[in-house]
Amino acid sequence: MNVHVGENDISHVVAADKAHIWHHLTQHKKFDISDPLIIVEGKGMRVWNQAGRSHLDAVSGGVWTVNVGYGRTSIADAVRDQLVKMNYFAGSMGSIPGALFAEKLIEKMPGMSRVYYSNSGSEANEKTYKIVRQIAHNKYGGKKHKILYRNRDYHGTTITALSSGGQDERKGQYGPFTPGFVEVPHCLEYRSQLGDVDDYGIRAANAIEEVILREGADTVGALILEPITAGGGVITPPEGYWPRVQEICDQYDILLIIDEVVCGMGRTGTWFGYQHYGIKPDMVTMAKGVASGYAAISCTVTTEEVFQMFKADPDDPMSYFRDISTFGGCTAGPAAALENMRILEDENLLENTTAMGEYLLEQLEGLKAKHQIIGDVRGKGLFVGAELVSDRETREPADESIAAAIVAECFKTDAVVIGMTNRSLAGFNNTLCLSPALICTKSDLDEVVASIDGAITRVLAA
Ligand SMILES: Cc1ncc(COP(=O)(O)O)c(C=O)c1O
Repeated sequence: MNVHVGENDISHVVAADKAHIWHHLTQHKKFDISDPLIIVEGKGMRVWNQAGRSHLDAVSGGVWTVNVGYGRTSIADAVRDQLVKMNYFAGSMGSIPGALFAEKLIEKMPGMSRVYYSNSGSEANEKTYKIVRQIAHNKYGGKKHKILYRNRDYHGTTITALSSGGQDERKGQYGPFTPGFVEVPHCLEYRSQLGDVDDYGIRAANAIEEVILREGADTVGALILEPITAGGGVITPPEGYWPRVQEICDQYDILLIIDEVVCGMGRTGTWFGYQHYGIKPDMVTMAKGVASGYAAISCTVTTEEVFQMFKADPDDPMSYFRDISTFGGCTAGPAAALENMRILEDENLLENTTAMGEYLLEQLEGLKAKHQIIGDVRGKGLFVGAELVSDRETREPADESIAAAIVAECFKTDAVVIGMTNRSLAGFNNTLCLSPALICTKSDLDEVVASIDGAITRVLAA
């Protein structure tokens, strides 16, 4: 492995970072007495910090992004070649990689038709909200404008994306929010709001219908859902949930928006998470894994039916989608995404994801048998969570300081990077999260699971 980290003194980089960088999701007081970690290099499943210490990354760049792993020179080459030829023109014009990636993407998404480029998951979701609002104005006199979102789901960080966020801690202190967004209940069976029932999935979906009827179906334009909730605690849908959700959307003429920002591009073993459940979305958004973080890109994908509503009346100057994302015109994104997709296909990474995901779940079930603190293990593909409890019987959530201590212990002792629900849900930041790159092997996963095993033992002994 060709890693040269640590040969050069980069203390000035650390000083510049300390002096000028405002880190994401970080309380900076700790840097009064410590240095920020600078990630200097990555190869495959591993990253190296400024001290030359190697870390096994079980969260694909922290936030389930680097699906094909680090150090992919073929993606860098594709981006370089494209930038030298043509780096940018506004998205009102076309580009070669833009058109070619859209074609390949639509091949993977039967029933979908159009791709709108922008550059973050939040922005991709905002596009869907604007589309819903514009349809409401053009077709329903502005009335069918409300957008339903689900408790514990997350759709992004801008004020309107947060307005559709079901994680109270993320929203706290950032209101007032955009009007017209209405919450529906979560579908986490382990935390059933309905007690112990054998048709929880259907009932959790019916709870959405209750909200629709309360609000008035003629006011509700869309429902946005993650196929499997990510940062809200890795929530796999209960049996029967999705077919009923689809039925409800069809019945009340409500557009179904699927947020694939985390699940998209193979993370769960299919190209998109919704494809496990036979869902027919009207719009799908994606970002993180689309180019595995080698370039910024997000896509809002729609059916032809949705698209056609925006070209029906060329004489009306207001009728088309009057939206632009400046950096949606960058060609680096689709160039990287094309090569990213080639790697996923040529290296059979969807198959690897399914096989390694099953193995990881098995190993975590083994840990659950050993450690009472693990109350529930769930996930799909390489997208897995372990919910910690202080009491298995009552399912009392473990304090988030325990989850944080386990994450810190894996990092400190074994240099293994795992994640947890982070400042999302007060009282429920108790789920350890794993989302290794789709190239991972059994031996990588064994290392991760052994690290968690040791960390739990030490933290609980302390
Ligand atoms: C499900 C989901 N949707 C949307 C977003 C927002 O994406 P971004 O941070 O690129 O704006 C995230 C980010 O974590 C996410 O997990």
